[in-house]
Amino acid sequence: MTANSQGNKLIPPGPAERFDINMTEASFDRISGLLTEYGDICRIQSPTRKSDTYLINHPDYIKHVLLKNHQNYNKGIGFDRVKMLLGNGIIVSDGPFWRRQRRMMQPAFNRKVIGKLSEQIQRCNRDLYKQWQQQAEDEEVIDITQAASEVSLQIVLRALFSDDLDIMVEHQGGNPFSFLTEDTSRDMQLVLKFRALTGLLLDVIHRRREQKPERIDFLAMFMDSRDKETDEAMTDRELLDELMTMIVAGHETSAITLNWVWYFIAHHPEVEAKVHAEVDNASYKDMPDFDDLEQLPYVKQVVEEALRYYPPVWLFTRKSIEDDMIGDYFIPAGSDIFISPYFLHRNTDFWPDPEQYDPERFTEQAVKEQHKQAYIPFSAGPRRCIGDFFATVEMQMHVGLMARHFRLEYVEQPPLELAPEINMRNKQPIQLKLKKR
Ligand code: HEM
Repeated sequence: MTANSQGNKLIPPGPAERFDINMTEASFDRISGLLTEYGDICRIQSPTRKSDTYLINHPDYIKHVLLKNHQNYNKGIGFDRVKMLLGNGIIVSDGPFWRRQRRMMQPAFNRKVIGKLSEQIQRCNRDLYKQWQQQAEDEEVIDITQAASEVSLQIVLRALFSDDLDIMVEHQGGNPFSFLTEDTSRDMQLVLKFRALTGLLLDVIHRRREQKPERIDFLAMFMDSRDKETDEAMTDRELLDELMTMIVAGHETSAITLNWVWYFIAHHPEVEAKVHAEVDNASYKDMPDFDDLEQLPYVKQVVEEALRYYPPVWLFTRKSIEDDMIGDYFIPAGSDIFISPYFLHRNTDFWPDPEQYDPERFTEQAVKEQHKQAYIPFSAGPRRCIGDFFATVEMQMHVGLMARHFRLEYVEQPPLELAPEINMRNKQPIQLKLKKR
């Protein structure tokens, strides 16, 4: 398919028909068709938006937008409901405010801090381990989608609030956030339920300001952090938005990934055998500590390949600030750029046989030889996911413990369908039989 040119400007090829791309199932099918027809870049004219949409699916183009010329791109469209949910948290903010918030929060995500927070991760996995011990006695078929959602929620809440979670649970007569694991529709109802927790979170913040309890968690780090130019701390409003952001960004993404990790292990006996060999040979007693994770490189590869295969953030967007060139193509100011990790991870120029689940794609050697921006489950550049390392640690620790003691066995169930919305989930829950090893 040939590109057009206007004057001496090369315009990417694209369909004559106008339509809007969104985070929906209909757009998923459309994107798939467009990439087959037009290749690594195409232009779609919008019937409603003032500017055109560009879909890019080549690592060099993605590198240009997310890294080389990132100053020219703001966060893009498709975030309206998320904005209502998260106010001005770092996932939606832009410019100097975003830079300040990111700088203040970044230290909470360094290796040493995550090492300390890993005790909270262990605590949540230990609770699940006890529950699974009982369920495995009867070889129950469990809903791993739900179990992964519950443990991921616990983990992110413990990492944020540590012991204050117990105070909130007691005060509310149950976990006030548990609706997030029950309600997967991300509609206005959910926004309202979530924003209704503002008072509860403000209580936690105020109690900490007054009583100064000893806490090691994200909230403590965020509250202690100071802007390096003004020496100011975050206001209550800013803290609130960032807390909500962490819960939303950190819960469902990890939950979906963990649910796929178990699915792939159960469906690939050769992968399961290698996971078992690795966890059995590791030197930890029952449960890995943070420092034991280096003994679990294959488990990490299993997670990485699950994130290639089904990246939960399957589509994200940017908006160009000024005119730009992506490759040889002219991109006007104000354009919407769509990047899809899902389709990039199936670009056969970089991923041979992409429908094959194969953790060997992530050996040290293979990663060295791969184009760095061919794999972007956590995005790339300055706006890369702040929780990438935390999420990887969380999943490695979970599998390191559970695979030592249990098998989750494949059971016959109808083929799963995908629900590509803000995140891409499986429509039907995954059922697996829990057995003791
Ligand atoms: C497997 C798990 C996860 C995946 C696949 C994932 C993926 C992503 C992606 C693709 C982005 C960039 C989106 C964009 O540029 O439009 C992002 C941003 C972000 N993620 Fe994650 N994420 C995961 C886990 C987490 C966790 C555990 C946390 C927090 C505890 C977190 C917090 C954030 C935040 C705050 C941002 C915004 C960063 C910024 O714009 O400066 N994520 N994530």
